[in-house]
Amino acid sequence: MFDSPITDALLLRIFRFRTRGFLRMEESAGEVPPRPALGGCYLYVHIPFCEVLCPFCSFHRVQHCHEHARRYFSALRNEICLYADAGHQFTGVYFGGGTPTIEPEELVETIALVRGRFAVREISVETNPKDLRPEVLARLRAAGVTRLSVGVQSFDDELLREMERYEKYGSGAEVAEHIRAAAGLFPTLNVDLIFNQPHQSLASLERDLEIFRTLGANQVSCYPLMTSPTVLRRMSDAMGTPDRGRLRTFFETIRRRLAPDFKPTSAWCFTRTGEGSDEYLTTADNYVGVGSGAFSYLDGTLHATTFSLNAYEQRIAQGLTGIVAHHQLSAADQMRYVLLVRMFGLGLDREWALRRHGKKFFRTLWGELRTLELLGAARRTEHGWQLTERGMYWLMLMMSEFFEAVNGYREAMRVHAGLEREAVPLGGVPQPVAAP
Ligand SMILES: C[S@@+](CC[C@H](N)C(=O)[O-])C[C@H]1O[C@@H](n2cnc3c(N)ncnc32)[C@H](O)[C@@H]1O
Ligand code: SF4
Repeated sequence: MFDSPITDALLLRIFRFRTRGFLRMEESAGEVPPRPALGGCYLYVHIPFCEVLCPFCSFHRVQHCHEHARRYFSALRNEICLYADAGHQFTGVYFGGGTPTIEPEELVETIALVRGRFAVREISVETNPKDLRPEVLARLRAAGVTRLSVGVQSFDDELLREMERYEKYGSGAEVAEHIRAAAGLFPTLNVDLIFNQPHQSLASLERDLEIFRTLGANQVSCYPLMTSPTVLRRMSDAMGTPDRGRLRTFFETIRRRLAPDFKPTSAWCFTRTGEGSDEYLTTADNYVGVGSGAFSYLDGTLHATTFSLNAYEQRIAQGLTGIVAHHQLSAADQMRYVLLVRMFGLGLDREWALRRHGKKFFRTLWGELRTLELLGAARRTEHGWQLTERGMYWLMLMMSEFFEAVNGYREAMRVHAGLEREAVPLGGVPQPVAAP
């Protein structure tokens, strides 16, 4: 009886209200933040360059320029060294974008630096289908990459054309061939798909999943199409407007079609049964984001770096990090954030929550935990709370809501960065266009 659009709308409304304070940023000086006092830390490295700027994408990305990208990578390495010199330690590193493989030599040099300075066990790299060339794959393998994540979005040629990816990244059949060639080269080969595209039929989604199963990749991340206010216009012109009313049917189809060979490792990631997954967002206690347009979360404080590439280079040249804004979450917001990411990652461990936040964790979140239980979204276990199959759908909705709020912030920062004229460091910090 709870599986209805009314429950979905109500839950999202409560979620928005309870998380409305997450992104209220204030200006930062830009020094390296202190090492986290509690728990481990992951490193996120943002590479904003892309060959094509897809009409649906709200990530921080700019048109690729070889010279600019080389200068950027060099600044990145300097920023990473700042953290190493300040004594930060990272258990893993995630290169996200944009397109991190756009300059393979620079990427490999940066991976070598990270491995030289930190004892990282996981090295995850995002890429696009065109970069799955034998020479690039061999270099990434030799560099120690443990997870390669390929942005596919769909194997349907019509949808690829609408997404303006067909010309640049090839037809669905070509993309599938590239992935087959990469299978088995890395401990984890992930494929990104986007569902609920405006002109995507259920049959097209089912076909995407069937093709995926034949490729030899051992992980798939299925994202609902998300947006932000300014991207929406360009996306609607190219692809149409998504109908949120179809989300449940699409999501249930994904779960059904991937079982039993693929098991959920988060509310939108599925990994071949018995094989590991490394989604730092759901497992890392803290993370540091370097590069332009990156976020850090350290001991309850959120930090954001500048979205201006010029300002980024200037700040690094001055011996600063790229950080221009921060927000210390209230104790209750920190707990809500932890509840969101842990439940999204399928469960919350009671002992872990006690160690990190003490008994007040359960007092503060009593209402949230009880609601999840009553709705049948989570069940109590010996060790804490486990997300149910039914709860996966709601956590997928909440996480996409959260991502859309972050997209709103990215947008405000991009507008702010656009105000820059002569590479002058920017003052002030805008607030999100669409607050959660
Ligand atoms: C930042 S991209 C990097 C991958 C690479 N640049 C590519 O597109 O091939 C990582 C993933 O984010 C997802 N993504 C980007 N924009 C999205 C949107 N508006 N809604 C849902 N997922 C999106 C896509 O699945 C994409 O593969
Ligand atoms: S989806 Fe990937 S390739 Fe397209 S603009 Fe976004 S980051 Fe770049």
